[in-house]
Amino acid sequence: MEITAILNYYAAEVEYCMSSTDQLPLRIAIILGSTRPGRNGKAVAEWVYNIARKRTDAEFELVDIKDYNLPLLDEPIPPSMGQYTKEHTKTWAAKINSFDAFVFVTAEYNHGIPGALKNAIDFLFREWNNKAAGFVSYGSAGGARAVEQLRLVMAEVKVATVRAQVMLSLFTDFENFTNFKPASFHEREVTSMLDEVIAWGSALKALRIKQSEVPVAS
Ligand SMILES: Cc1cc2nc3c(=O)[nH]c(=O)nc-3n(C[C@H](O)[C@H](O)[C@H](O)COP(=O)(O)O)c2cc1C
Repeated sequence: MEITAILNYYAAEVEYCMSSTDQLPLRIAIILGSTRPGRNGKAVAEWVYNIARKRTDAEFELVDIKDYNLPLLDEPIPPSMGQYTKEHTKTWAAKINSFDAFVFVTAEYNHGIPGALKNAIDFLFREWNNKAAGFVSYGSAGGARAVEQLRLVMAEVKVATVRAQVMLSLFTDFENFTNFKPASFHEREVTSMLDEVIAWGSALKALRIKQSEVPVAS
């Protein structure tokens, strides 16, 4: 009898948690992936955020990895084990864990993503899992090569990446390669990309809630 009462109590708790998290709005991070002084990424990320925040079907937050002062990965245990020892890791993990989906704003450095962004991704594992992501990139070829690389990295941390993508040209969307003046059609591309991120982010949120169910004995 006593065991049944305990199991019923936990079943009710799980049901309550599931229904309350399910009803929360989808939370999406717009992650600014470059950290150098004078970076173009800041204006791009703010532009994306200002388009996104007008929507009512999700909540958005601008996350600047520079604010987290992450050193080169200094955790002794691989992140997939989830045994973080450093305060900066725990702070970064709590932030990423709070989101259902991501929009990565990435530069292209030597045909890849900035090292700071790769390092910030490498620090964590479960906090990324079973979530969705979209991309906004910039560079001489629209940052396309960086995003192709980033899609492979995302697959390894179990993030589903949407097809719609925003690629900004250093030649036509920036004056003198520094003053961000995006062509107007890119705004529609941001909207399409966000539509896909919200759709997949919602589907994967449902999956995560389902996976968190604990079997309850009858
Ligand atoms: C280390 C480094 C490597 C770069 N490599 C490329 C490249 O491979 N392809 C490209 O299109 N642009 C490249 N660029 C130019 C960047 O796309 C451009 O400087 C961009 O503004 C960098 O983003 P950020 O200003 O946010 O740091 C490179 C820039 C840096 C600093």
